[in-house]
Amino acid sequence: MNKKELIAIIKERYPYYKNLQKMKIAELKEIYEKNCTNFILKNERNSCYMDALFVALFHEKNKYIYNLFFNSDLKSFKNQNRVYFGYQTARELFKINFEKKIISFQIVKGGTGKTSITHSFAIRANLYGARVLCIDIDQQGNLSQAFNIDSKNLPVMIDIINNKASISESIVNISEGLDILPSRIENAVLDNFFMLNKFPLERVYFDLIHQVFNKYDLVLIDCPPALGQSVAAATLASDIVIAPVTPEQFSLSGLKI
Ligand SMILES: Nc1ncnc2c1ncn2[C@@H]1O[C@H](COP(=O)(O)OP(=O)(O)O)[C@@H](O)[C@H]1O
Ligand SMILES: [Mg+2]
Repeated sequence: MNKKELIAIIKERYPYYKNLQKMKIAELKEIYEKNCTNFILKNERNSCYMDALFVALFHEKNKYIYNLFFNSDLKSFKNQNRVYFGYQTARELFKINFEKKIISFQIVKGGTGKTSITHSFAIRANLYGARVLCIDIDQQGNLSQAFNIDSKNLPVMIDIINNKASISESIVNISEGLDILPSRIENAVLDNFFMLNKFPLERVYFDLIHQVFNKYDLVLIDCPPALGQSVAAATLASDIVIAPVTPEQFSLSGLKI
């Protein structure tokens, strides 16, 4: 790569580097090697950090936020050449006015990405400054696992419904501004429980969420691949339902249902 090309790449990704023209090619190569080659990080959490960071600091249109950040004493930490910041700083910087919303991710077909999207969406929203509560009502507990929460001895939705625990004491903190109500296999009986006890589906999750809703901007519900009472209750509590489909015949059938 020649000097011109190196400068073009560095400039595009790191507009704050000054006097690139005057630098020797060896110096430019060093900057390139250190910063540009491993720009795409494998780890989802890291890539989310990069995402928020990229928009805030390196995007041409966001020079304003870049200046705001470097002229402020907002909390951040450095790792090698990178500056990272979390939810509180993002909240201060971006000042996004999150409309309070309950969003559920559901479709009757399994393996279409409900859990993965809930996970990524939660982390991204949080890194842009949203206070997020994830509610895992899938008995497989994949979302809880994705956040590294071992729910074996923790209260889950069925315990709350059975009045063995309250929602506020069952919520587990993942990181600053990001919480989860975990799940485990016992949640498999939610459907039967709602049916046998004739729970009012339009109220059951809605009322529970509203006990804690004042602490959050977004509540994300990861549903099981089913259409039972529990998923119906989640639908009735939601402002938005997101149904991910993979481009396959059976996924499309799932969407139609
Ligand atoms: N965007 C994607 N591209 C490729 N694979 C994905 C994507 N989203 C999810 N997956 C993979 O698909 C599988 C099922 O995803 P998951 O989120 O568990 O689906 P669901 O919750 O609907 O059952 C997982 O192995 C996951 O890693
Ligand atoms: Mg899932």
